Amino acid sequence: MPPDLPPPSGSPPPPGPRLLSGDELERSSVVANNTMNRERGLVGVNSYARELGQDPLAHLASRPAAPSWLDLCSGEGRALREAAGALPADAVLTGVDLVGPLVPRPSPPTLEEVVASVDHWAPARTYDLVTCVHGLHYVGDQLGLLARAASWLAPDGLLLAHFDPDSVRWADGSAAGRAAVSALRAAGFDYSARHHRLTLRGGRSLALPFRYIGADPAAGPNYTGQPAVGSHYETRA
Ligand SMILES: C[S@@+](CC[C@H](N)C(=O)[O-])C[C@H]1O[C@@H](n2cnc3c(N)ncnc32)[C@H](O)[C@@H]1O
Repeated sequence: MPPDLPPPSGSPPPPGPRLLSGDELERSSVVANNTMNRERGLVGVNSYARELGQDPLAHLASRPAAPSWLDLCSGEGRALREAAGALPADAVLTGVDLVGPLVPRPSPPTLEEVVASVDHWAPARTYDLVTCVHGLHYVGDQLGLLARAASWLAPDGLLLAHFDPDSVRWADGSAAGRAAVSALRAAGFDYSARHHRLTLRGGRSLALPFRYIGADPAAGPNYTGQPAVGSHYETRA
């Protein structure tokens, strides 16, 4: 069987890894890993501009008014803070992270720092820019988050997220990454395998043909060299 097809229906499922719920995953050592790089700034060596291949401010600068940026899995929020200093007073900057900044600092008035899981949080507005810089690697339902994030984009907004197809698996642990990338491309995402980066231009409502069944925190290191989560799915008609 080619590696990217789901197991045949009707056959008993072969044993796969033990899969965790969202709450269990968030308590696991792979997510609560204090050696992660959570301190990327806006530009420079350890930065969003470098990881995303473009300076987030360049996209926001083209907005006629009130530029808005939602950063999912924002870590210390350094990139947002640096952006706040360069954007007008009507900018809207939102960072969402499970842990939030470990070093508490007063927030600039344009920045809202939300401590929450992206599994449960949803914004009350749309954004010109939505980013997730090396955050999906720790999220169980990555495809569900990408589908929700697509709906949080403004009509001419831009979504940029790092994504590792190898982390997407069927229930039995076999590879589902090619199927996931095909479905994402069919929904309008571009995927650069070289940069492990998804890009979506323009907000939309979409449903991917995957049903999330749980996360494997023992999937091992991904392309970044850091331990990452395996996201397991069944097909959804
Ligand atoms: C590798 S760090 C990247 C942080 C930041 N984007 C950067 O590049 O500096 C991954 C971040 O994802 C956060 N994270 C993991 N699971 C999450 C979840 N379910 N909801 C929100 N944040 C999560 C972690 O707390 C961590 O801050």
